[in-house]
Amino acid sequence: MNTTNTIYSGSAALLLCLSMSPFASAENVPQASSGYANFTSAGELVRPLGYREWIFIGTPLTPNDMNNGKASFPEFHNVYIDPASWADWKKTGGFPDGTLIVKELVSVGSKQAASGNGYFQGEYIGLEASVKSKQHFPDTPGHWGFFRFTVEISQALRKIAAAQPGENCMGCHQSKAAQDQVFTQHYPVLRAAAGKGSAGAGRLD
Ligand code: HEC
Repeated sequence: MNTTNTIYSGSAALLLCLSMSPFASAENVPQASSGYANFTSAGELVRPLGYREWIFIGTPLTPNDMNNGKASFPEFHNVYIDPASWADWKKTGGFPDGTLIVKELVSVGSKQAASGNGYFQGEYIGLEASVKSKQHFPDTPGHWGFFRFTVEISQALRKIAAAQPGENCMGCHQSKAAQDQVFTQHYPVLRAAAGKGSAGAGRLD
């Protein structure tokens, strides 16, 4: 291989690396970035991709059967935090600017398993997210914004979502969540790791 070719393949490899970066993986080319969260120029959040490879922090469930047959949120919530914010959480026990939390909605499927009766996950039915960004939410409590990608009565998801009006989401999070508008009381993974450094990755005893 001559020198020209070597230089060319080096640049091609660099371009490939850049195009595979998690910050550029969404369908819409992001205009502004806040860590893992990508926004369009109009301030909408581009639907996060690849989050099932992030840090899983818990699966709350409020089933219909335990809420007079009509729970407000009757499905499983599989919740993930982006890896950069997780690293920071282990150091500081707080959510850094740029934190992106994804909540994937999963229907209640079977109520029986070989092990007994219970609640078992069915199908993916929706996606919501919250982002902490001083730049994008200078006036909200903790600088959080809330987003919903779910298309009702469908398993499809929107590619971008505008921030939800405060009364839809923030009020409940602000008054009931244990730490910085996040329901850490329901996430043992976060509680056990807060400020614990590398010990936060799992039990060391
Ligand atoms: C009536 C209270 C209430 C309202 C209203 C509400 N949430 Fe939540 N949210 C919760 C609770 C409780 C949890 C944790 C347990 C769970 O997932 O069920 C949660 C968890 C979340 C999480 C995971 C991170 C966290 O903060 O724990 C996201 C993301 C989220 N909600 C988004 C939204 C969005 C988007 C809306 C508005 C469309 C919304 N929520 C409205 C109560 C609420």
